[in-house]
Amino acid sequence: MTLGLSDQPAHADVIRSSEHGGRIIDGKIASLQVLEEVAERAKALVARGTTPGLAVVLVGENPASQVYVGAKGKAAKSCGFHSVQHDLEATTTEAELLKLIAELNADPQIHGILVQLPLPDGIDSTKVLEAVSPSKDVDGFHPVNVGLLGVGDVTRALVPCTPAGSLVLIEKTAAALGVKLDGMEAVVVGRSNIVGKPMVQLLLSKNMTVTIAHSRTKDLKATVQKADFVVAAVGRPEMIKGEWIKPGAIVIDVGINRVPGEGLNAAGKPKTKLVGDVDYAGCAVNAAAITPVPGGVGPMTIAMLMANTLRAAERAAAQ
Ligand code: GUN
Repeated sequence: MTLGLSDQPAHADVIRSSEHGGRIIDGKIASLQVLEEVAERAKALVARGTTPGLAVVLVGENPASQVYVGAKGKAAKSCGFHSVQHDLEATTTEAELLKLIAELNADPQIHGILVQLPLPDGIDSTKVLEAVSPSKDVDGFHPVNVGLLGVGDVTRALVPCTPAGSLVLIEKTAAALGVKLDGMEAVVVGRSNIVGKPMVQLLLSKNMTVTIAHSRTKDLKATVQKADFVVAAVGRPEMIKGEWIKPGAIVIDVGINRVPGEGLNAAGKPKTKLVGDVDYAGCAVNAAAITPVPGGVGPMTIAMLMANTLRAAERAAAQ
């Protein structure tokens, strides 16, 4: 497998029946399988004298970022990692942040560095992400890692966690359903640097025939209709409609959009709910298997961050 993890057992466990007639791809179960293997391999590494170390840096008080960062630290501890969190004031200067990154780059106990985005105005995110040592860049955002993935060197590249997790779901689902990836038609909807573009490279590395589409694609429906595998990462709630899905296709929904729900919550405020970029109920009818939102790609992102940290630590230990 390309991500440095050996083939996961129990692919069939990841798929279950849906009330819509198709099958659901359970990202929670898949993520637990990845985390279990990461924890096992971390234990072996600790026994050889290296404890994987992850440093997460949070600047400011964005509530969503605080939740994400907390979940990352918790997962790191559950894998037996050395986990540190640096909470910096919203008024932190770019120079101060760059100084901390330089310290973490030089710290032999730290193998993975993640600077949570978005950063406050006045800090140049590109400059910050490029300051992280490529060997510790567990987000896979540094141009060196982007370039390695671009030339197809998926063994050396640290790959962004969300597309990496989406690929694991695709591989597990294909294995469970007895489908091959080689030569199949994949359509990625969305061209972001964090998901769409790296996803294309990963699918190409599996010898798939890949089309990248986006919100400006002329005939998005016709483009999606030819896909055996659809990855939706366009950031528009329920944009991909049921009739766009070829019968038997596998659908991976990367979107997480908060939209108005029904009724009022306990505090008397209008309820909200999370939906993906895919009209789940509509698409589940034609799809052979589909990821739900939440509970699909989301849990895989953190699991792959742990897998990347483990890989970085294993490489450091081998030097
Ligand atoms: N903010 C939201 N998602 C991410 C991510 O995957 N990595 C980082 N560094 N920040 C984020």
